[in-house]
Amino acid sequence: GAEAALAQDLTGRHVVVTAGGTREPLDPVRYLGNRSSGKQGYALAATAAARGARVTLIAGNTALPEPVGVDVVRVGTAAQLREAVLKAAADADAVVMAAAVADFRPAVYATGKIKKREGQEPDPVTLVRNPDILAELSAERARPGQLVVGFAAETDDVLANGRAKLARKGCDLLVVNEVGEHKAFGSAENEAVILATDGTETPVPYGPKEDLAETVWDLVVPRLPEHRP
Ligand code: CTP
Ligand code: CA
Repeated sequence: GAEAALAQDLTGRHVVVTAGGTREPLDPVRYLGNRSSGKQGYALAATAAARGARVTLIAGNTALPEPVGVDVVRVGTAAQLREAVLKAAADADAVVMAAAVADFRPAVYATGKIKKREGQEPDPVTLVRNPDILAELSAERARPGQLVVGFAAETDDVLANGRAKLARKGCDLLVVNEVGEHKAFGSAENEAVILATDGTETPVPYGPKEDLAETVWDLVVPRLPEHRP
C-alpha cells in the first residue's frame, strides 16, 4: 500500500501489463468476446506507475479511464495483443498477463455482414485455437531474468488447477482467482492465491483489486535481477 508507493521500488524498471478481454471478429459487426472488465490489469498498471516503473499497458476491450503516466496500446484480437506484448516485452523487466485472451477465434472472417437467409438455418461457427501468449513469453524470455506473471480464473479445483497451470505455462508467478458471483469478472474486488515456481503460495484476502496488484508487485520486486548500471 502506501509504504510500497513511498518505496518507489520499481524505479528504473519497465513493466508490461495486459488487461481486458480480446474480441475475435466473425464479420464487420460481430465478435466473440468475454466478460473481462480490465480492472485488475489497470490496477496493476496504476500501482506499478506509483511505485516508479515505466509502464506499458496493452489494453483489449475495456471502458476504463487510462491510468495517469502509463503508455497505453489498444488492441482488439488475441493476434494483435500477441504482437503488441512481444514488441513491448523486448526491453521489459516484467510482463504481467492479466488480459483475458480468447482461447479460440472463428476459423473464417466474413468480410461482409452475415445475413439471414429465408427458410435456412444458420451455418455453424467453426473455431480454431489462438496461440498461447503466456506460454510463448515464458519459454522465450526477451531478456535474461525477465519475470513473467500469469493469471488463471478457475471455477473448480482452484489450487490443483492453478499448480498444474503454473507448471504448464512456465511462468514465474501465477495469480489464481476463483471465479464466483462477486469475484473476478467485472467486480472491483478480488480474492486470489499467488503461486510461485519456488513453491510459495501467497493468499490474498478478498478486497480491492489494487490490494492484489500491490501484492503482485511485492512478489515481483525481490525476484527481479539486480539493476543494470
Ligand atoms: N493466455 C494467453 N494466451 C492465450 C490464453 C491465455 O497468454 N491464448 C494467458 C492469460 O492472459 C492468463 C493465462 O494465460 O494470464 C491463463 O489463462 P487461462 O484462460 O486461465 O488459461 P488457459 O491456458 O487458457 O486454460 P483454460 O483452458 O483453463 O482456459
Ligand atoms: Ca483460457
